[in-house]
Amino acid sequence: MSHPSRLSADQSGITEAARLLRQGALVALPTETVYGLGADARNDRAVARIFEAKGRPSFNPLIVHVPDVDAARAYVQWTRTAEILASAFWPGALTLVLPLRADSGIAPLVSAGLATVAVRVPAHPLAQALLREFGGPVAAPSANRSGQISPTTPDHVAQSLGTRVAAILDGGPCPVGVESTIVEASGTPRLLRPGGIPAEALEQALGHPLAIRDGSEAISAPGQLRSHYAPAETVRLNAADWREGEATLGFGKVAADLNLSPSGDLTEAAANLFGHLHTLDATGRPIAVSPIPMHGLGAAINDRLSRAAAPRD
Ligand code: TXA
Ligand code: MG
Repeated sequence: MSHPSRLSADQSGITEAARLLRQGALVALPTETVYGLGADARNDRAVARIFEAKGRPSFNPLIVHVPDVDAARAYVQWTRTAEILASAFWPGALTLVLPLRADSGIAPLVSAGLATVAVRVPAHPLAQALLREFGGPVAAPSANRSGQISPTTPDHVAQSLGTRVAAILDGGPCPVGVESTIVEASGTPRLLRPGGIPAEALEQALGHPLAIRDGSEAISAPGQLRSHYAPAETVRLNAADWREGEATLGFGKVAADLNLSPSGDLTEAAANLFGHLHTLDATGRPIAVSPIPMHGLGAAINDRLSRAAAPRD
């Protein structure tokens, strides 16, 4: 099998990655959350290649990555909620959903025809360097085939996408390890997806609780499909003990094949989550997971685990 090219974490790698983006090619880039499958968000053909590479249903909208707040404001209608959350958490693991500006120039495929678009300012130094070198908005979903586990290393990207991606900018493992928290930031602020920034921290910045996404609404997000992030074998959650033949994932003082955080640190657990799932998945055995607390990043970890464990169609 042939492999995508690996670009080094220096100016030559960044220059080449930006050149590929300008050509309309797909480049996997490291962010602090997970690797993104990036394309020029103004180029319809390039954005279409993302859906093709992921094997993703085309009604799922993408996140637009920009280097700073000023760049974000060129594409969306800014709100007071956006101002509060962006000044507290950008650059970082937070995505804001806001109304698209009429003059945004963002390819309609990015927002899947919606009147809103998701924007994020990533903190990862290589993502920042690439966005500045490229000088335009980069649409990027997680860099995995649709429904598979999100990639937190360059090897995960190569294993999942192969030569469907032109190049991978190699930033090593992603420090946060779960995707960004998504908040609808126009009207009443609502939590659309738990993620790398705990909802409690957002509520503290806003000074009031966030509304939660209403489950009766049409599903517009693959991260909100019930079975997602799915390993090949079954996943058993909240396991109090291990069964014969299981590949086991512990948390805290639990003896297991792998442990998300032996010291019970939820931030460390989030960073290890997808990598450990990839490793256990490769054993070909069903996976069992210890209970994980629900506070802080535990909400995002349990959300991803429950999707990994959901019945498949
Ligand atoms: O950490 C992350 O967010 C990573 C890195 C690469 O930035 N990206 C990521 O992208 O997780 P993706 O495509 O796997 O998930 C983006 C989520 C989807 O669930 C999508 O439906 C939702 O954002 N989304 C995008 N635009 C939206 C919109 N206008 N309204 C509601 N949800 C939206
Ligand atoms: Mg994803």
